[in-house]
Amino acid sequence: MNKILSIILVSLTCAYMTINCKASEKQTQNPKKTLIVYFSYSHGNTKSIAEKLQKTLHADIVCLEPKTPYPRDNEKMDKQGREEVEQQFKPELKPLNIKLNDYDRIIIGTPTWWYRMAPVILSFMSSNDFKGKTVIPFSTHAGWAGSVIKDMTALAKEKGAIVENGHAFLFRDKKEGQPSIDSPEELDKWIDSLK
Ligand SMILES: Cc1cc2nc3c(=O)[nH]c(=O)nc-3n(C[C@H](O)[C@H](O)[C@H](O)COP(=O)(O)O)c2cc1C
Repeated sequence: MNKILSIILVSLTCAYMTINCKASEKQTQNPKKTLIVYFSYSHGNTKSIAEKLQKTLHADIVCLEPKTPYPRDNEKMDKQGREEVEQQFKPELKPLNIKLNDYDRIIIGTPTWWYRMAPVILSFMSSNDFKGKTVIPFSTHAGWAGSVIKDMTALAKEKGAIVENGHAFLFRDKKEGQPSIDSPEELDKWIDSLK
């Protein structure tokens, strides 16, 4: 009798464990995974938003870098940046250690360069497919937001994405040469909308 009871108990425990494992397998096979992709050059403005997103959303993050680094001289950079934007130049990027296919949602951040997205972001978006993914574009700017969000939205849609919640953030020079975000409340509200 005791033997029969233990067999029943062991079988029930195994059945329960199997159900539990299946449930957790399902969760890990279908997580809504978010990746943050950004480029930042001048002050780290775009980087600061990307890192806040990473902490709040517990997302993965990747920083894009051109294979040939940009000059650190302001005048040279302004000129080169303008030429690249006007010619819709797509600089070659350093290889990435991530697979976009692992993610359902991609948040893409760029500084505004001559009213447009930075060429590094144009390269990234042009060379990838976003079919079935949600793309959320954001930009930082110093007062002239231009058409960045509109352009990123159009390009992501062209590449198959559903686009949501695009947002441009103003950074002002509060101390000499040290910009900070104009409205931290606006940023918090936007991040809340992405939770
Ligand atoms: C080449 C270049 C072009 C820029 N063009 C614009 C512009 O058209 N409008 C604007 O508001 N800010 C412009 N900026 C300022 C940056 O967009 C702004 O400071 C941004 O927040 C910098 O982000 P980062 O620190 O992540 O690079 C430009 C900066 C650079 C270097």
